[in-house]
Amino acid sequence: MTPETEQQLIALATQARMRAYVPYSHFAVGAAILTADGQMHVGCNVENASYGLTCCAERNAIFGMIGKSADADARHIATVVVVTAGNDPATPCGACRQVIREFGSDATVIIANTEGRITLRTTLQELLPYSFGPEQLESSNDNTGGD
Ligand code: THU
Repeated sequence: MTPETEQQLIALATQARMRAYVPYSHFAVGAAILTADGQMHVGCNVENASYGLTCCAERNAIFGMIGKSADADARHIATVVVVTAGNDPATPCGACRQVIREFGSDATVIIANTEGRITLRTTLQELLPYSFGPEQLESSNDNTGGD
């Protein structure tokens, strides 16, 4: 990924963050995804009066990506950028790590703040070691249990 592409992803995530719907936590998050075919997708967190229905910025970006194309490269996540305020990197929650894993087991994950400063550069494998993914289901002919 070129530095220009990285800057573009940070800018897109920062803009998406400004559209976050966060009346309860007031913690706005923006995410931008780069796919293997070079497309970019964005998402922000969307909260709900029934708190548990809240969906994170990362998952909203990924679900938008899936809705746009069924092409394999268009669904392969190369990079995830997350933007939050402050200097403490806010890494993707456990649920989002697992959803990133589904489409980007080799993804780079970059956390930046609203000033454009990168506070953490890591990988999905580092955030979710020994992960479970689609391959585990494919490797077994019989998942019905029993003998
Ligand atoms: N949140 C995200 O959108 N992404 C993360 O990586 C962590 C948490 C949201 C969920 C909720 O709207 C708010 O941040 C506080 O948890």
